[in-house]
Amino acid sequence: MVTLLENPLRVGLQQDRVPEPQILVIYGASGDLTQRKLVPALYQMRLERKLPPELTIVGVARRDWSHDYFREQMRIGVEEFGGGLQSEELWNDFAKGLFYCSGNIDQSESYQKLKVFLSELDEQRGTRGNRVFYLSVAPAFFGEAIQQLGAAGMLPDPKKQRLVIEKPFGRDLSTAQVLNRIVREVCAEEQVYRIDHYLGKETVQNLMVFRFANAIFEPLWNRQFVDHVQITVAETVGLEGRAGYYETSGALRDMVQNHLMQVFSLTAMEAPNSLDADSIRNEKVKVLQATHLADINNLENSAIRGQYTPGWMKGEQVPGYRDEEGADPNSTTPTYVALKLHIDNWRWKGVPFYLRTGKRMPKKVSEIAIQFKEVPYLMFQSAAKQANPNVLALRIQPNEGISMRFDVKTPGNSLRTRSVDMDFRYDSAFGKPNTDAYARLLIDCMLGDQTLFTRDDEVEASWKIITPLLEAWDAPAPPDAIPFYEAGTWEPVEAELLLNRHGRNWRRL
Ligand code: BG6
Repeated sequence: MVTLLENPLRVGLQQDRVPEPQILVIYGASGDLTQRKLVPALYQMRLERKLPPELTIVGVARRDWSHDYFREQMRIGVEEFGGGLQSEELWNDFAKGLFYCSGNIDQSESYQKLKVFLSELDEQRGTRGNRVFYLSVAPAFFGEAIQQLGAAGMLPDPKKQRLVIEKPFGRDLSTAQVLNRIVREVCAEEQVYRIDHYLGKETVQNLMVFRFANAIFEPLWNRQFVDHVQITVAETVGLEGRAGYYETSGALRDMVQNHLMQVFSLTAMEAPNSLDADSIRNEKVKVLQATHLADINNLENSAIRGQYTPGWMKGEQVPGYRDEEGADPNSTTPTYVALKLHIDNWRWKGVPFYLRTGKRMPKKVSEIAIQFKEVPYLMFQSAAKQANPNVLALRIQPNEGISMRFDVKTPGNSLRTRSVDMDFRYDSAFGKPNTDAYARLLIDCMLGDQTLFTRDDEVEASWKIITPLLEAWDAPAPPDAIPFYEAGTWEPVEAELLLNRHGRNWRRL
């Protein structure tokens, strides 16, 4: 338990301003993300008066829906996946700002039709030409949509029109570079918001505050004291009906290149000069550019992939990846990836960063664990190795919090030691974090704050790190080329070796 001495720490990251009236245009609005995440998050923010009453949302997709049908679908989303309607009156008021405009992503007429419709809405809703275009379509269509928006003259003013691009941004370094070039042809970087919802998570943002608002941790945050760092993002869910996307993506593109790399760069970066978007992003880029797989010549010493086989989760039998609907029965798509990274700089030279993520793991848990070095001399133990060196664990989700493990003497006459945890929990200190990651990011985008979005050079730097793996793992391979793990268990044994070889172990969470 930690007692709160003071809490109104106001950091520049935290915005309380309300965005100007605007239209949010969501491409791919008939998909899950809009119904389950975006609109429920926006509704909640509207209820909390963090968004202006003129906020207008226009869903765009191929299907021939009416405005009313779109409103019904969004209502279901708020009821089932959000915090509920609260009242019919509030919902009706919000729903007045919901519209639908069918259109094909590759047809210029659709963009012209939309353009006219948006101008009408400006008149009707007082949105003054302010727009956010949110691309929540299959990644293969990003380039086309951006070019068409540019050709239709929809992004002329960097101060008034913004573009949100979902992940993954490209399939590899060269496609990300092409996409960045397309973006540059139609708009300025200051209009571009490459979204990664992990950056909207309260505990990920807290990383910087924890590191740079406290004097006692940063002096230890380096090669002199840290043995290694483990970053884990484990999920219990499986494919969730997303075979079409996941088969061509896999854990490396779906999770590592974006979410894990973001958490990694915030953990390893140097202190920024200030809290403005570019100062922070400059530091993230710098550390990403200094990072590489631990052993480029022997990839198995740097990275392990895995795929789940049938197993048991919470007493229920679940299918293996290859038996999931839409998955190739011989698929070698990884649902698990573990990496060992090195950073060539003064702070981190020689300190391995281990990253792992997997689906169908026994537990949903994301954390960053800083594992400190052993004491120089084992006075209290006869063993050759300290049993439990100090660990500082930052839990991203669930049970958001921070814990520090250290040894104490157990009560009694004999001199025995035991490890204990000193624990800070967000919920006991502040109550449950209530700002949804998407809500936070959408508001930042509407306010023109790019701090929590990925810059062009940043996305390229993180692709570059995993390029050797993409090349090796994308090559045609026999079905047994990938290690397996049973659903409901931790990593494949091969991934254990990545650490065991050096006398380390993955944390059991
Ligand atoms: C998404 C991935 O970006 O993040 C999903 O596409 C994954 O595959 C999800 O399940 C995890 O997000 P969270 O917030 O539940 O940890």
